[in-house]
Amino acid sequence: MRRLDNQVALVTGGARGIGKDIAVELARLGARLAINYNRSEDAATALVEQIQQLGSECLAVQADVSRSDQARRLVEATIHHYGRLDVLVNNAGITRDKSLKSLTDEDWEAVICTNLNSVFYTTSAACPKMIEQGYGRIINISSFVAQSGNFGQCNYAASKGGMIAFTKSAALELAKHNITVNAVAPGFTATEMLAKVPERIQETLIAKIPLRRFGKPNEIAQTVVFLAAEGDYITGQQININGGIYM
Ligand SMILES: NC(=O)c1ccc[n+]([C@@H]2O[C@H](COP(=O)([O-])OP(=O)(O)OC[C@H]3O[C@@H](n4cnc5c(N)ncnc54)[C@H](OP(=O)(O)O)[C@@H]3O)[C@@H](O)[C@H]2O)c1
Repeated sequence: MRRLDNQVALVTGGARGIGKDIAVELARLGARLAINYNRSEDAATALVEQIQQLGSECLAVQADVSRSDQARRLVEATIHHYGRLDVLVNNAGITRDKSLKSLTDEDWEAVICTNLNSVFYTTSAACPKMIEQGYGRIINISSFVAQSGNFGQCNYAASKGGMIAFTKSAALELAKHNITVNAVAPGFTATEMLAKVPERIQETLIAKIPLRRFGKPNEIAQTVVFLAAEGDYITGQQININGGIYM
């Protein structure tokens, strides 16, 4: 794969889970990293060390990306520190699973603000620099449930579907600046987010996956780095990595 030497990558929610693997793989290709965390300060500190041991630079920035002011400050801090921003990975996300009859306004807003509004905040903050550079790679971590729907996930599915619609529209607007915008849609992936699902239900989920296992965070990360390093002619796409659960 082509190297990302001299490029700068920002990963939201990059301290753990899928975001951590994405950050490590980008660093392995030579990118200088900014990782964002909200609550996981210790994990962020440990990851900074791990990335430095790989011979790359890493800046950790605390920000709640569901808040416009904090999300924009995160992008500004990255650009201020490194002087550029080449790869933006919108990975931060939460679930608040409840069936529609129990879902509150607060459950709805928390998920939409964290998963979807954040993508607008960081992307619009990153655009001026990427346009000035004539280069940018924006990768949004959506989910297969954006396409399939999922019981108990009206809020989450709507946020992830919104990300895909945003991705296509932004790709159209930004293509003339050599900025690509793509979505990656994982299936069930073995992280803390999935660990919250009771074991009995996890077994029924695995039975529905044609490849009969959950995805690994690194399998998602490999596709993200491919888009960053080799995806020059890929834009406005959603790339499914889901073990066949949605075809
Ligand atoms: N795991 C799956 O089965 C699966 C499937 C499809 C899509 N996805 C998507 O993949 C992405 C990563 O998920 P994951 O499985 O790695 O989840 P995870 O293990 O629960 O990690 C979530 C990450 O998001 C960050 N985050 C949450 N709220 C935030 C906020 N307000 N501001 C900044 N960061 C915030 C967390 O940071 P802190 O810990 O610092 O708060 C953490 O790094 C999410 O967008 C998720 O929806 C996951």
